[in-house]
Amino acid sequence: METVTSVKDFQNFLNERRSLGEEIGFVPTMGALHDGHTSLIDASVRQKKTTVVSIFVNPLQFSDTEDLDDYPLSLEKDEETCLRHKVELLFCPTRREIYPKELPELEEIGEIGKTLEGESRPSHFQGVATVVARLFEIVGVSSAYFGEKDFQQLMVVNELVKRHQFPVEIVACPTIRQIDGLALSSRNVYLTEEQRADAPVLYRALMEGAESVRCGEKKSENLKKLISDIVINESKGDLDYVGVVDSETFTQLDSVLESGKQIRILIACNFGAARLIDNIGVVIP
Ligand code: PAJ
Repeated sequence: METVTSVKDFQNFLNERRSLGEEIGFVPTMGALHDGHTSLIDASVRQKKTTVVSIFVNPLQFSDTEDLDDYPLSLEKDEETCLRHKVELLFCPTRREIYPKELPELEEIGEIGKTLEGESRPSHFQGVATVVARLFEIVGVSSAYFGEKDFQQLMVVNELVKRHQFPVEIVACPTIRQIDGLALSSRNVYLTEEQRADAPVLYRALMEGAESVRCGEKKSENLKKLISDIVINESKGDLDYVGVVDSETFTQLDSVLESGKQIRILIACNFGAARLIDNIGVVIP
């Protein structure tokens, strides 16, 4: 496996592979790779002849008060992980390669990126959409693998692809969790021992919420209250939001849930320095 830093070297490699008729699987990341990331890599390796991974900690998706300067970096370990998982090429661009201009033009995002996580982190999804658009322009025809762990991001990316008609197929992959339910995240390293013990409450609460839906709960407000109460009563986490949305359109569902609808319940909670997000899908019976 090779690591390249320039767009030109990356594109030369991709063009060579495409000229051999090989399909490209692309896994964009910000590094500090864990089993969540490698599940995307493994899915791509299973499905595509060539898998490439990018590592770029995108400054545009962090606000001034967020953890850009402390974001975990582990390039050597990440290279080993990629090699072990049969990645063919690792793209680790400099900031200049991704954003040749000092002030890159920001992507517009639709309504999907403005609620929930987008409301708590204004400009976050604009930053995500800007870097993903740039990466898709560079990579070209491919399938790109994203985690359902960041469900709203996945929806923003789907919308971006439609709007720009990028020749990229988006493949959604399920959330990988630790044994106690905590979704793997690069930010879990910020948790103290006590917070780490508290954090599985998020998935526990989501599971209880999904179960209440399966048992007949049809009111979105009741569902949100049930989940919020569990998090508030059973942890020291600082709950930010619980949202209930239509899985297809990401419209927020504020009252009665219609039978047959696929919904996603999303949650965000701060445990000290760690902002954790999670979600679960359920069908209304
Ligand atoms: P990052 O947080 O590094 O995540 C890269 C990819 O891994 C995303 O698609 C994310 O949803 C997926 N992922 C993270 N944790 C996961 C888990 N526990 N199970 C399954 N998949 C998981 O998301 C980003 O980077 C950035 O916003 C990026 C898309 C690279 C743009 O900068």
